[in-house]
Amino acid sequence: MGGVCHLSIVRVHRESIGLDARMNETHETNRHFWDRISDYWRRLREEDKHFLRLTTEPELAFEGGLLEVIRGALPDLKEIDVAVVGSGDNYVAFALAGLGAKVTSIDISQAQLDVARARATELGLEISFHRSDAADLHGLQDESFDLVVSSNGFYVWISDPSAVFASIHRVLRSEGHYAFYDVHPFTRPWDGEGSPLTMKKTYWETGPLYEEDSDNIEFNWTLADLLNPLVRCGLRLVELRESPPVSSRTWQGHSYQEPADDKELMDWQVNTRAGLPMWLTVHAQKP
Ligand SMILES: C[S@@+](CC[C@H](N)C(=O)[O-])C[C@H]1O[C@@H](n2cnc3c(N)ncnc32)[C@H](O)[C@@H]1O
Repeated sequence: MGGVCHLSIVRVHRESIGLDARMNETHETNRHFWDRISDYWRRLREEDKHFLRLTTEPELAFEGGLLEVIRGALPDLKEIDVAVVGSGDNYVAFALAGLGAKVTSIDISQAQLDVARARATELGLEISFHRSDAADLHGLQDESFDLVVSSNGFYVWISDPSAVFASIHRVLRSEGHYAFYDVHPFTRPWDGEGSPLTMKKTYWETGPLYEEDSDNIEFNWTLADLLNPLVRCGLRLVELRESPPVSSRTWQGHSYQEPADDKELMDWQVNTRAGLPMWLTVHAQKP
């Protein structure tokens, strides 16, 4: 990662190819990927309809103690302006809207937003949906949110964390909060589960990484890659948490699915991963 806080933007001729001039080419590739696989995720989430519980059980949407962190920063979320960036399945957006926040859900994929809009209607929640790249948050006004949240596996899709932090800093009001949990960087170098673990790459191989038979482009940022630009962008680091998984479901299926109970997988001597942090939780504030 470079040492400066900058927006990494690829300038193109809008007229010549009919695309937004702010386009980040890597993110555009991932946008097409998410538009294409959105229906797979829609069907998966329809299987357990877990999302219908989020307005009464908001904690189901959060890992790494993030809801506790948010409640500590903003005990009453009623009428608070919240942006959920890279909103994906929108579980966090539904949970925060259920707690009374005025939520804007932002994702780069229109298909993902369409699924989320239909679910918000099913839940009776009023949420604004906005399509934009987190690296520029185009179309969102400066200083318009009290809280920005991102969650789960979001930074793996981001080619330039500095650009995202700069955009978040821009849309936050003074004293506004940015709170996120994400997959901890220490989980990334390993192949499979068990003990001993096999390394499939070094911690410092951050990408771009390409999945076999797919066109998505991913990044495995280190802790330093995430935290240094966050601070350089003018956000003040308030709290950092590194948490273990709370159940073995982490290795058994997809996030948000019902916890399975496999005690062996939770034993670090049987599954070394259980002895490593699973989630990275960050609370930062705009001065
Ligand atoms: C696996 S989901 C995970 C995050 C999400 N919070 C969740 O828990 O469902 C990734 C989401 O990030 C979105 N995304 C990927 N790159 C993005 C970008 N540059 N800006 C905004 N959203 C992005 C994808 O479209 C997808 O909906």
